[in-house]
Parts: sequence; C-alpha cells; structure tokens
Amino acid sequence: MVNILITGGTGYIGSHTAVLLCEAGYNVHIADNFANSDPGVLNRIEQIIGKSIHFSEVDLTSSEDLDLVFKNNTFDAVIHFAGLKSVGESIKEPLKYYNNNISSTMNLLNSMHKHNVDKLVFSSSATVYGECKIVPLEETFPIGQTTNPYATSKFMQELILRDVAFASNLNVVTLRYFNPIGAHTSGLIGENPKGIPNNLCPYITQVLSGKLEMLSVFGDDYETDDGSAIRDYIHVVDLANGHLKAIEKLLQTNSSTSYNAINLGRGIGVSVLEMIKTFENATGRKVPYRVTSRRQGDLPVSYAATDKALNELDFKAERSIEQACRDSWNYQEEFNKTSASKE
Ligand code: WQD
Repeated sequence: MVNILITGGTGYIGSHTAVLLCEAGYNVHIADNFANSDPGVLNRIEQIIGKSIHFSEVDLTSSEDLDLVFKNNTFDAVIHFAGLKSVGESIKEPLKYYNNNISSTMNLLNSMHKHNVDKLVFSSSATVYGECKIVPLEETFPIGQTTNPYATSKFMQELILRDVAFASNLNVVTLRYFNPIGAHTSGLIGENPKGIPNNLCPYITQVLSGKLEMLSVFGDDYETDDGSAIRDYIHVVDLANGHLKAIEKLLQTNSSTSYNAINLGRGIGVSVLEMIKTFENATGRKVPYRVTSRRQGDLPVSYAATDKALNELDFKAERSIEQACRDSWNYQEEFNKTSASKE
C-alpha cells in the first residue's frame, strides 16, 4: 500500500484529489485545519469512497504539530494544497499570506527531509506567469511578474522548492492550475467558498440559486471577440486526475529531473460571456448580469500550453465546460438542500 499525505485535503481541489487517489487504491491521509473548508467534507469524501479516511487536524504553520503527523505515520509522498488563496485578501493582508503560505511550505519541507519523504506534488497556479501576455502560456516562460501577494507567495514557494530539490534528493512536480470549475458528479463535494465568492463560477451558481442578485461582468472592452476576458476553465475532476498522474510519475521515477513544473488546463480559452451562456444552456436558467468596469489586475487572455502535461504525465483534460457547469449547479442544488434541511 502506498501512503500519501494530502495537506489541505478538505478544500476544493484537495477533496476531489483525495477521492481519486483512494479510488485508485492509495492510502490517503488528510491534514487540514479547515481554514477555508468545512469538517463535513470528510464525511462526504467517506460517503463517496465507501470507507473511512485518515485525518489529522493540524495547522501547518505549527512545525511541532506538523512534525507529529510525520512521526506518527509513514508517507511515501505528499501532495501540498494547504494555503490561503484569496487574491483580494492577500492585497489587504500581505503578511498573513507570506507568513502562512511560506511557513507552511517550509515546515512541510523540514518534516519531509527529517522523515525521509522525498516525493512532493505542489499545488501552484497559472497566476505565477503574472502579466505575461503571450498565449498559450508555456512552462518555459519567465515567471514572477506577479500582481498580488497571493501570486507572489506561489512564485516564492516555487523558487524554494526548486532550490531544495536541486540541493537534495527531493523530487518535486509543481502543477500550475488554470481555472478549476465543476464538482464531483455525486454533488457531495464541490467549491464552497466562505463569504461572497471572488471567482466566476461559484458566483454564477449563487446567482442562479438566488443567493446573490446579479453577476457583474468585469469589463467588455478587452480585445477579444466579445470584449470579455478569456480564461482556461478546467473541470476539477480532470485537475484531480492530473495529481494522480503526477504521483504515479513520481513513484515510478528514477528521473534525473528533480524539479518539474507542469501546466494543468484544457488549452482552450473561454470568455466570461461564453461561460454565462454555457451555464444558461446547462441549467435552463437565465444568469442575470450587468457589465461593470474591469477588475484591477485582471489579464485579458490566459490559457495553457498543454503539450508538457500530455508528454510527461500522459494527462489530457477529458471533461467539457458544459459538464463542469452541470456538475457545479448540481452541487449547488445539493448544497442548498442540505443547508435548508439544517435550518
Ligand atoms: C475569471 C474571469 C474575471 C468574477 C483567480 C486567481 C488565480 C486562481 C483562480 C487560485 C475573469 C471574470 C469574475 C465575477 C467576472 N486561483 N469575473 N465577474 O481571476 O482568472 O483567477 O482564480 O487559487 O490565481 O487569480 O479567476 O474566476 O476570479 O475570474 O466577470 O464576479 O471572470 O474578470 O476574467 P481568475 P476568476
């Protein structure tokens, strides 16, 4: 049995990855402090996989607490999701982001080193490409022209991991996600941000369910076909599958490459107005929206070059954005039912 530690495993991408790894026969141990997730996710993961899952409630910024998890368990590899991820909050509270995200990764690396765990999949983001205007975005492009402390903290973590990997026996696959959307088809797990969502898809599903009144489309004066900004939306289950492939590669590897950054996207750009249409077609409901000014820091166009993921991980996203919209809406409806029955 191969033992995998998943930090941040009750979060949006972490929970879907935990499910896929369990279904593939891995022994998964989740470490999380529920900073941006709900403890009920653990039960829902267990419902999907039909067995119990190992869990430690731990804040990764406490090196002692984290090290106890390593002391009391055996791990072959780690997938590191845990971290704060709100762009807006990071601009207001940069120290919180640097303290949390950098110290968590440092503590994890120290514990991995101490306990001889030498395989790591790191949750990074296309945000590290920053203001790069050339698309599709290739992994060889320079990174670090970042526009907010969240993005800079991801960039800094990538640099730290690269340096440590070159200087030790640590093997790292860094996955740069584009825009994850959708949910597990069961409707049991999905994206459930605390407070008002910042991201497009959870905002749309909350408008569709009547929780929020209207979507603001941030800008229709970009140089794109319909004037709205373009992103590379990828189904979260596809994204989770990318992690499974990365773990498999690390476990097989006698690779000479100790640090490898790989994009996970569909390689297809979709505009905000196209996303609204797709949601409307998938759900049979209208999305009320108004066009407002551009959001500060937003890029006109961002989508992934996907050749590296295909060549090195044998990864290709399989699910359409229509399916992702259906799954997001299904999750939102299930979530609303559960919340209503609790009231
Ligand atoms: C998508 C498009 C908005 C909300 C961010 C982070 C990135 C990653 C994913 C990781 C943009 C437009 C949005 C709304 C809108 N995070 N939009 N109205 O900005 O591409 O990426 O999330 O953890 O690091 O930067 O994603 O979903 O916020 O926006 O018009 O209410 O939708 O302008 O064009 P983004 P997003």
